[in-house]
Amino acid sequence: MSDDADTPAPPPLSRETAHAFLRGRRSVRRYRPGRPPDAVLHRIFCSVAMAPSAHNRQPWRFFVIRDRALAARLATAMGERLAADRRRDGDPEEAIAQDVARAFARITGAPVVILVALTMAEMDTYPDAARGAAEHLMAVQSTAMATQNLLLAAHAEGLGTCWMCAPMFCPDAVRSVVPVPSDWELQGLVTLGRPAAPGRDKPRKALPEFVRLGPVATGADDPDADSAWTDSTAADTEPRA
Ligand SMILES: Cc1cc2nc3c(=O)[nH]c(=O)nc-3n(C[C@H](O)[C@H](O)[C@H](O)COP(=O)(O)O)c2cc1C
Repeated sequence: MSDDADTPAPPPLSRETAHAFLRGRRSVRRYRPGRPPDAVLHRIFCSVAMAPSAHNRQPWRFFVIRDRALAARLATAMGERLAADRRRDGDPEEAIAQDVARAFARITGAPVVILVALTMAEMDTYPDAARGAAEHLMAVQSTAMATQNLLLAAHAEGLGTCWMCAPMFCPDAVRSVVPVPSDWELQGLVTLGRPAAPGRDKPRKALPEFVRLGPVATGADDPDADSAWTDSTAADTEPRA
């Protein structure tokens, strides 16, 4: 292999900057007034488009709500459904009212609300249920990858976001208000806007709780040992809130 092939292309950001950026995103649940211009939304969705996806089918779909009156109708419809579900669970009325009011405030307090969905229209089909379920799961995974790009691209614009799961629990309520195409399967929504305050730090698991490093060969038997990669940086510090 030539020297050129051995040398990784320089990253567009320094390592420290890239890691600090990734670790700096927080869920934001209160926003200042003011809708980001469409040019900003366009930039964000150009980055969403670059997410990886199973077979590169890009099954994600997004419906961008930029009208607070429509967001309020959506929040009301979802809130009615949430209240009905929780009443069936036997929860106290006061707790239900609080929960519904909190979700309503979060959704209507955002200048932009983005419904996240997937479509199976271009995914593979199988005659058996097991492979069909795996294919569907790959569409879910791909859509989550795209949504993470959305959160990070918004973060790059200085905007805050919060992923909310509510539409998964009441797709009919969403459809009663927002004209989403019939093949779109709702996965959640993302609120977006300029943060009214920084998002709160949430605790993180220590790495040994979620990473297992497999063994390596010793000495000359390890063709992948590379002492050039053992340098340390500020990005080595574990992000524990
Ligand atoms: C699939 C998914 C569903 C979520 N649903 C909600 C939600 O319904 N309401 C909410 O306030 N936050 C929701 N969140 C945000 C999480 O609470 C948040 O990401 C987590 O607490 C870590 O905080 P951070 O995003 O600030 O790092 C959701 C996040 C994900 C990935």
